[in-house]
Amino acid sequence: MDNLVDYLFDRKFHLDTLNKVDFTQNFLDIPSRINAKIYQGTRLRVFNRVMKNLHINYCDYNFIDTGSGKGKALILASGFNFKEIIGIELFKPLYDISYQNLSKMNLNQRIQIEHGDILSFTPPPGPNLYYLYNPFNERVIKDFFSTLQKNQTFGNDDLIVYLNPRYHTTLTNLGFQYQILLNNLNYNKVVTVYRFDYFLTK
Ligand SMILES: C[S@@+](CC[C@H](N)C(=O)[O-])C[C@H]1O[C@@H](n2cnc3c(N)ncnc32)[C@H](O)[C@@H]1O
Repeated sequence: MDNLVDYLFDRKFHLDTLNKVDFTQNFLDIPSRINAKIYQGTRLRVFNRVMKNLHINYCDYNFIDTGSGKGKALILASGFNFKEIIGIELFKPLYDISYQNLSKMNLNQRIQIEHGDILSFTPPPGPNLYYLYNPFNERVIKDFFSTLQKNQTFGNDDLIVYLNPRYHTTLTNLGFQYQILLNNLNYNKVVTVYRFDYFLTK
């Protein structure tokens, strides 16, 4: 059923977000691809369920998609009233597709996309919601979030929303507190939300 919903979403708006890209077969000339596994867009129904269960004022938050791929989660985020919507994508061909997808939806003004490595990204002043849908391995997660902690760029109100949190312990080892948001998503996937309190970790 989810497959059909996402297929129809692409068809309705003439988008390309559905087809997966396997980085073991593609972009072999880009060394940092070894930290990334696969491009797969967030499912529409999964995204909406996650957002509705957060119980936050969307307009207080910037939505930051760390590894925005073809722009699917960014497009879906535009259905919520986020302050800013920002995506960073490592692979230029995927960034280019996301640019075209956003153009087709008339969202180029509303959504900012950057081509580059998340490790070179400077977040805007928060509160920020960092969205992670299996973007990269534990080394990148650790480097990115520990740098934000060290610079105190990760604010008390900031959130990490991590779908299918494969590297959960990387975040808890950095001192992030967590809460399971949903544990009965399709295919038994879990969604976890992380916060960081500098006072608690002193
Ligand atoms: C599973 S896809 C998710 C795409 C998008 N967030 C969504 O939910 O529709 C993960 C994406 O992260 C990107 N990625 C991997 N490593 C990255 C890095 N170091 N910096 C930026 N993007 C990265 C991959 O190229 C891929 O497009």
